[in-house]
Amino acid sequence: MARRFHVTTFGCQMNVHDSERMRGMLSSLGYEEASEREEADVILFNTCSIRESADSRFIAHLGEAKRLKSEDPTRVVGVGGCWAQSVKDEVFQRFPFVDVAFGPGQIHKLAEFLNSDSLSAQGYFEFEDFSGHLPTRREREFQGWLQISQGCNCVCSYCIVPSTRGREVSRDPFELIAEAEALAGDGVREVTLLGQNVNSYGRELPKDRRISFAELLAMVDAVEGIDRIRYTSPHPKDMKEDVIRAHADLPALCEQIHLPLQSGSSAILKRMRRTYDRRRYMDRVALIREHVPDCAITTDIIVGFPGETEADFEQTLEVVEEVAYDGAFTFVFSPRRETEAATMAEQVPHPVKVERMERLIEAVQRRAAERARRFVGRTMEVLVEGTSRTDPTKLRGRTRHNKAVNFEGVAESGQFVDVEIDSATSQTLSGVSAPPHSAP
Ligand code: 5AD
Ligand code: SF4
Repeated sequence: MARRFHVTTFGCQMNVHDSERMRGMLSSLGYEEASEREEADVILFNTCSIRESADSRFIAHLGEAKRLKSEDPTRVVGVGGCWAQSVKDEVFQRFPFVDVAFGPGQIHKLAEFLNSDSLSAQGYFEFEDFSGHLPTRREREFQGWLQISQGCNCVCSYCIVPSTRGREVSRDPFELIAEAEALAGDGVREVTLLGQNVNSYGRELPKDRRISFAELLAMVDAVEGIDRIRYTSPHPKDMKEDVIRAHADLPALCEQIHLPLQSGSSAILKRMRRTYDRRRYMDRVALIREHVPDCAITTDIIVGFPGETEADFEQTLEVVEEVAYDGAFTFVFSPRRETEAATMAEQVPHPVKVERMERLIEAVQRRAAERARRFVGRTMEVLVEGTSRTDPTKLRGRTRHNKAVNFEGVAESGQFVDVEIDSATSQTLSGVSAPPHSAP
């Protein structure tokens, strides 16, 4: 019988994509995927370290792997991703039952380990070039990722990512277009460009191959069969007018921009080393509203950054009121090892962080619900993703604005349908569909 593997993924879309590549690679080595962890011969974790809660959630899972390994010592336990990178060789001291550990994106190292006859624990933590052309097993055949760069040259004082993913390296544009064409040929309709800072793409490429992020978007847009393009995440400091205009000009580029704010206070933004201030951020928003008035804007916000006063926090609330985000991911500041902010003076007491978080969520949700009402009465193009999670008689999909929609109708996953929206909450839309059509 074939050996079986099980992967648990934590963290961002980059990790989701890396896990798809792990699945593809293991399948090509003759492994099969087990639906339960206890049925697997190779137990893998793709980890995140962005906040303390991510660490602790993962460590609870690791306890189960330890138990399974003690039941059957021939099992292999592997830990990849950002947490592994951030603790490196300590992994083996703290968790001696782990057989192999590797940094983010270093999936080919896992193959090397499984194909070797090494019996001792191995760690692979060098930052290197891309792991290249690994086969991918996509979760949905009509949606694909295109990793355009790895690493990050920013020095945000709260963030562990520059130390886990290394310096920024952009991939060759021609290689990316070939990959986009291959995805389209393989049935992908919606592609998401991935990078830690997508809109600084290309800056370190050799001159004869250097293109900007906006040019890359245009090249992907021209690929036959790609009907929707998204990207994540851009940095407000690098959000140029050409990228914003592209949302108006390129038919496949969706009306959706995730623009991480982090804080509405210029003083806090400075301590965060974000290199923009509130005014410049609001200029970007104004430019988006000018060129693409209906664009959905979402964001990330941190509350309780060291030194954040009540007045600073109120400025964040003001920005939330002004922008009226379509949605926001909200985080309580979490000190991360070896980051500048972890040891800054004036850490905000926990109860204050919690109280601010509650007020922030109230504002975010209220504005998002108000904003979502603009869709009621409209007919929106929805890419069907499956059945509704809450009501199995309904279907679920996403609009170009990246809003989840539950709707009545008959369609297959991967088809485009027009849905007439009849109600909206801060998170989801509901409606009724017309019959599917083949292309938007
Ligand atoms: N504490 C809280 N939130 C953080 N983020 C990144 N690092 C931290 C931290 N130390 C948030 C940021 C980022 C998102 C992915 O996670 O808002 O945009
Ligand atoms: Fe987590 Fe950040 Fe690493 Fe993604 S890049 S897995 S969010 S620590």
